Amino acid sequence: MENKSFVTIAKHSKDKILYLLEMAKEFEKKPNRRLLDGKIVATLFFEPSTRTRLSFETAANRLGAKVIGFTDPKVTSSSKGETLKDTIMMVSNYADIIVMRHYLEGAARYASETAPVPIVNAGDGANQHPSQTMLDLYSIYKTQGTLENLNIYLVGDLKYGRTVHSLLMAMRHFNPTFHFIAPDELRMPEEYKLYCEENHIRYFEHTDFTEETIADADILYMTRVQRERFTDLMEYEKVKDVYILHNRMLEYTRPNLRILHPLPRVNEIAYDVDDNPKAYYFQQAKNGLYAREAILCDVLGITLDDVKADTLK
Ligand code: CP
Repeated sequence: MENKSFVTIAKHSKDKILYLLEMAKEFEKKPNRRLLDGKIVATLFFEPSTRTRLSFETAANRLGAKVIGFTDPKVTSSSKGETLKDTIMMVSNYADIIVMRHYLEGAARYASETAPVPIVNAGDGANQHPSQTMLDLYSIYKTQGTLENLNIYLVGDLKYGRTVHSLLMAMRHFNPTFHFIAPDELRMPEEYKLYCEENHIRYFEHTDFTEETIADADILYMTRVQRERFTDLMEYEKVKDVYILHNRMLEYTRPNLRILHPLPRVNEIAYDVDDNPKAYYFQQAKNGLYAREAILCDVLGITLDDVKADTLK
């Protein structure tokens, strides 16, 4: 059987991405369905999470599946030395699909090569976060009416930020212009800039984060400087508050601008931005439910036609 794992956005065609977004739209119309009746979804979180785990678990529950799993690897036998391979093989005995977040880059791919059931990557170290990308794309499409030809500003931790890495790869189909705003210590890694060049994606790099820099943005994608990725906390202290978005900076931005953030935020968006109609990060997190319902169905072989037929019931 074809392995339907959802490990990286890079392998998905434009048609496949648009197909999943259409499925998410169906789920927004009607989130509660019995399409996964009798299925078991395992959520294995080796790193902390609020939104990703809870939205996947909500998605599974709203689709009629049951959920097993853990939120703290210290309470599992991995703390006794069980390998990731053995853990995955064991959980595959119990579940129809495994949603996994892991601190090691490549862990999801490794698990997908091991497991007899589909693996969904819920974030692997600083590498990828493809389900976040589906909800980001859905949010961009909903707010801009298109994914094509947009000016997208990525701000903050572009070195370790797995959400920006995945978003960049997915956008290759849609002729974006990217602006990377980061301090020198947290610049977009060379491998992703090379990816842009190979895929004819325009990008500009900045270190200033000012009203002028963001004046022609359609999407301002803020990110947190992630303390957990630094080995030297002095380095973290130096850059942690380098960019803070204040409401006053939005006065001359485009009317269609929307501010996204994968969340959690720490200091990088001031609270006075929350009431600005251009702030979209909480709705963005809500869109995660619909995008993740689509992902769970897709990896289990449920098609858009099945979902549309169910909408009419
Ligand atoms: N966006 C995101 O991955 O949030 P969590 O870490 O809370 O899951």
